[in-house]
Amino acid sequence: MDKRDDFDIYVVTTPGLESALCAEMTAAGFTDPQPGKGGVNTRGGWTEVWRANLELRGATRVLVRIGSFRALHLAQLDKRARRFPWADFLRPDVPVKVEASCTKSRIYHAGAAAERITRALSEELGAPIADDAEIVIKARIDDDLCTFSIDTSGESLHKRGHKEAVNKAPMRETMAALFLRQCGYDGHEPVVDPMCGSGTFVIEAAEIAAGLKPGRSRSFAFERLAGFDAAAWDALKASATLTAPIMRFHGSDRDAGAVKMSQDNAMRAGVADWTDFRRQAISDLTPPDGPPGLVIVNPPYGGRIGDTKQLYALYGSLGKVLRERFHGWRVGIITNEPALAKVTDLSFLPTGAPVLHGGIKVILYRTAPLA
Ligand SMILES: C[S@@+](CC[C@H](N)C(=O)[O-])C[C@H]1O[C@@H](n2cnc3c(N)ncnc32)[C@H](O)[C@@H]1O
Repeated sequence: MDKRDDFDIYVVTTPGLESALCAEMTAAGFTDPQPGKGGVNTRGGWTEVWRANLELRGATRVLVRIGSFRALHLAQLDKRARRFPWADFLRPDVPVKVEASCTKSRIYHAGAAAERITRALSEELGAPIADDAEIVIKARIDDDLCTFSIDTSGESLHKRGHKEAVNKAPMRETMAALFLRQCGYDGHEPVVDPMCGSGTFVIEAAEIAAGLKPGRSRSFAFERLAGFDAAAWDALKASATLTAPIMRFHGSDRDAGAVKMSQDNAMRAGVADWTDFRRQAISDLTPPDGPPGLVIVNPPYGGRIGDTKQLYALYGSLGKVLRERFHGWRVGIITNEPALAKVTDLSFLPTGAPVLHGGIKVILYRTAPLA
């Protein structure tokens, strides 16, 4: 594996959550993180790449720039791609695929560019080419400059590796983690999700409190790159310091299937001891004993599940229960319609950018501690 420690690293996230990921990366000690469109730039060597994959809760995938050259036409692209030091990064026995994009360049046909690079790579390195290859080389030709990046993650990082059961509209773990962060959650207060679905918020909150690394149960594409140092990687994974949280994390849902799903997911994630899930309608919700903390919830969305009149009533009763029973608690509500947030009659702080979730734009509405 190339021993350089000055790669440009691009950590992809859900558009709209770049600054939240940037804050997470700053707190985690990454070098000079700078938010861009759909991700955050940083620099570092393979240890930082591994660490970004293993530890960043808000990252969707981690791309490493491995080199670039100018290419004004396809013959030049072909020649320079053949001279590229592929063997520093890729193994000849591991399938690979190339994806290309072209902007503002004389080479404008992405398909033809991908085809040239693929041929050069396979003929020079000898690696098999496969459409479903876990190793993906991204070639970006921008302003006649061709830049190669490796996707070091493989499967999207929101797949932590312990959730099997999902409901109709699950929140992605990566988004849930960044919404928790935007609500000021740092692992030291109780969390309640009264419409918990598959339990995503409650499980993420418990993992954060326990110091469990989000990537601990899964594998990554970088494990199949050339010169991968398995012993150093095992040492990094083993370096976690776990703490049994003193707080408890509570989920409820009116749907018995959702409750069972959440319990199973919490068990697989190793946080069952600190979480509880119960079947309960929002009207029966009461705060748990102990200090106040954070209520975070994404109720059914408008225009997706359920009918509009019922939704207004549901958001209305959610707001009423929180206002009457949850003094001192902060609230975070994720929804897609400002009018639905408004009927809760809660006083919201200024909102941030909309975030694309499963094809719809959602917004996090946050409150200060309720009076
Ligand atoms: C959009 S889903 C939440 C998804 C969840 N955040 C996850 O990651 O899986 C909304 C949930 O609200 C629940 N729900 C709807 N009306 C409810 C009510 N009156 N009381 C409690 N739960 C309710 C539904 O059963 C559903 O699981």
